[in-house]
Amino acid sequence: MKVKSLIIVTLIVGIAALFLSASIFAGATIPDAMNLETKGYECQKGPVQFSHKKHSEEYKVACGDCHHDSKGKPLADLKATDKVQNCIECHKKPGAKPKGKDAPKLSEKEALEYNAEAFHKNCINCHKEFNKKNNTKAAPTTCTKCHAKK
Ligand code: HEC
Ligand code: HEC
Ligand code: HEC
Ligand code: HEC
Repeated sequence: MKVKSLIIVTLIVGIAALFLSASIFAGATIPDAMNLETKGYECQKGPVQFSHKKHSEEYKVACGDCHHDSKGKPLADLKATDKVQNCIECHKKPGAKPKGKDAPKLSEKEALEYNAEAFHKNCINCHKEFNKKNNTKAAPTTCTKCHAKK
């Protein structure tokens, strides 16, 4: 009897350890810092340094707050080893939407087709909300705080 329960305990501990190491492994493989600079067109602003790992681990932002599927539904169960589509694969139009008095008036949906509008909405909206809620300026909301000098 004693031996049998020992085996069971060992098994349980073993399985728990397996789960634990799997989650540590998943955490360790999400890309850390990235230089966001959409390729394929001439950028007007400098690249943006983005710490993927800090957002996910320190700021506790869920994967699905940034990644979603082809219908815009959050990818809540995303794993670091999953294949992730780049934003520009869906938010296809290069750069920011046209500005100035002759610019066409776009609906929210049309504006989001522009790559930079999708990024800005995602990044800046959350930063504004966070700053307001916490009475801080820790999350950058101005151009040069995100875009390096070119
Ligand atoms: C704050 C926003 C944000 C969060 C949170 C986030 N990501 Fe990302 N992730 C991005 C951006 C932005 C990119 C780059 C997309 C691009 O270049 O078009 C990216 C890219 C990736 C890539 C591709 C990396 C590469 O080198 O091409 C993977 C894989 C990924 N994310 C997985 C995850 C997982 C898993 C989580 C949750 C644990 C997560 N992400 C959380 C914003 C985020
Ligand atoms: C597989 C296609 C696809 C990919 C990849 C994709 N999106 Fe989207 N995104 C969509 C669709 C579809 C919608 C919904 C548009 C609508 O409502 O008309 C959307 C909506 C959005 C919105 C508006 C959400 C809201 O609450 O109003 C933002 C911001 C956004 N995407 C940013 C991003 C960012 C940043 C990335 C890369 C990390 C990304 N998207 C990757 C398809 C995609
Ligand atoms: C859902 C919320 C959320 C989204 C989405 C988000 N961020 Fe943040 N970000 C934060 C918070 C919270 C902080 C500041 C935390 C602190 O310093 O206490 C932050 C801080 C930063 C900082 C300064 C500190 C650092 O980590 O370097 C940069 C740069 C930044 N974010 C870039 C981005 C970019 C680029 C995107 C879009 C691809 C983005 N963030 C999307 C929540 C978000
Ligand atoms: C929270 C960070 C953040 C802030 C603040 C921000 N941007 Fe961006 N911006 C990005 C990211 C991320 C991209 C997509 C990556 C890229 O293409 O550089 C982008 C893309 C762009 C692009 C298209 C790419 C290019 O370089 O031509 C333009 C133009 C742009 N931003 C202008 C601005 C302007 C103007 C402001 C201030 C009003 C601003 N951004 C503020 C993060 C930010």
